[in-house]
Amino acid sequence: MSNWRIRDFHSSDLDGILHLWESLKADGVEPVYALSEVLASCEKDHAVVAVQGDQVVGAAVGRAAHDQGWIVFLATLTEFRGRGIGTSLLSAVENRMAPHGLNKLSALMPETETRVEAFLGRGFVVKKNLRYFERTIPVQRQELGALGLLGGRILARDLWENVAGMRREKELLERRLVLPLAEADLADEYGVVPPRAVVLFGPPGTGKTTFAKAIASRLEWPFVEVFPSRLAADPKGLAGALRETFLEIAELEHAVVFIDEVEEIASQRAGDPPSPLQGVTNELLKIIPAFREQPGRLLVCATNFIRALDTAFLRHGRFDYVIPIGLPDVHAREAMWQRFIPATVVDSVDIAQLVERTEGFSPADIEFAARSASQRALEKAVYDDGGSGLASNGRKGPVTQDYLDAIADTRTTVSPEVHQDFLEDIDVLGRV
Ligand SMILES: Nc1ncnc2c1ncn2[C@@H]1O[C@H](COP(=O)(O)OP(=O)(O)OP(=O)(O)O)[C@@H](O)[C@H]1O
Ligand SMILES: [Mg+2]
Repeated sequence: MSNWRIRDFHSSDLDGILHLWESLKADGVEPVYALSEVLASCEKDHAVVAVQGDQVVGAAVGRAAHDQGWIVFLATLTEFRGRGIGTSLLSAVENRMAPHGLNKLSALMPETETRVEAFLGRGFVVKKNLRYFERTIPVQRQELGALGLLGGRILARDLWENVAGMRREKELLERRLVLPLAEADLADEYGVVPPRAVVLFGPPGTGKTTFAKAIASRLEWPFVEVFPSRLAADPKGLAGALRETFLEIAELEHAVVFIDEVEEIASQRAGDPPSPLQGVTNELLKIIPAFREQPGRLLVCATNFIRALDTAFLRHGRFDYVIPIGLPDVHAREAMWQRFIPATVVDSVDIAQLVERTEGFSPADIEFAARSASQRALEKAVYDDGGSGLASNGRKGPVTQDYLDAIADTRTTVSPEVHQDFLEDIDVLGRV
């Protein structure tokens, strides 16, 4: 029974490949390349099969990457082993890849794979001092197109760590949002229904947008910001464009969808004649329940005027949490100053004093003061003081006084009245 032969792969061999794959798994081998990748390579790269009659009894699949080739799949049915089929398959796939001018051919095998004679037979050498690392990139390549059309993007991975201070808010978001979304299966076992929509509210510049992006980064989900002002220009009108945008978002596997200044499209539906935005508010009220039915996504709305929102909008069942993001406390301000002062001078600046002097400052105010301190210190060092480029202490970089001056010149964005309103809003409307 040795009348097997090797030939090129045809689409009709897919079932045979599947069968080979299953027989590998049945033998306890967990292949390195996913089945979908192997099948894609069968169609697009280089694949050969060994057949006996109509039956596929073995296959080798290879892929060229620059001048290195990779064997992504090699298998022979158990009952056909020991006949040199594997070696012949390797040789055939190598020939198919030869036109690429490869100078190395590599293969990764799971440790459980003991049948390596075919590789040894073709002159492959086992490299003993290697380890295999893998990280799954959550967004499918094919989604990038759809994501691009929506203006969505994958954010840097470190945004969550880069949110300075705000420990209370971070912990709350980590527990209520990130945990059940990132550990969806575990949450399910505990009967936790993952959140689908949240509102972040608070005075200007406290970090609502920063947090929305940080959540996306933490979850490794794409970030899609919906801009009502841009949609308003759509010939279908704002309500129609909003509906369409959410239909497109439904096509994505994962997304953090962000609507900033949501009060602009979800304000109180009062007044006679009704405001032209009423239709838009109604549309949004319809969109949210549909959005909530799809797993793997989170809607984050932000506002610094939560009292203006339509009461129906904030109702239970639409938004899981209504989370206040307030002014930074002492610890948060200290963390921010540590972040904003250049590392080369941070140990020589009296941070405790800056923290004390910036009570009532928002993160945006602190960032602004830190930047203007740097700017004025640079100017002073270059244009004043004989233009030495050095500060008064003989070093390069801002000194405590530069920061104190900049703080004194910074007008805080959040007035005491606005802050008082915010504290009331937490009591009346907050829901964590
Ligand atoms: N915790 C933080 N650590 C470091 N920087 C921060 C932090 N929070 C906010 N910032 C910075 O402060 C600025 C304002 O933050 P952000 O835009 O997120 O505020 P916001 O609440 O969305 O403001 P608005 O209500 O005006 O939209 C940004 O430049 C941001 O980088
Ligand atoms: Mg914002």
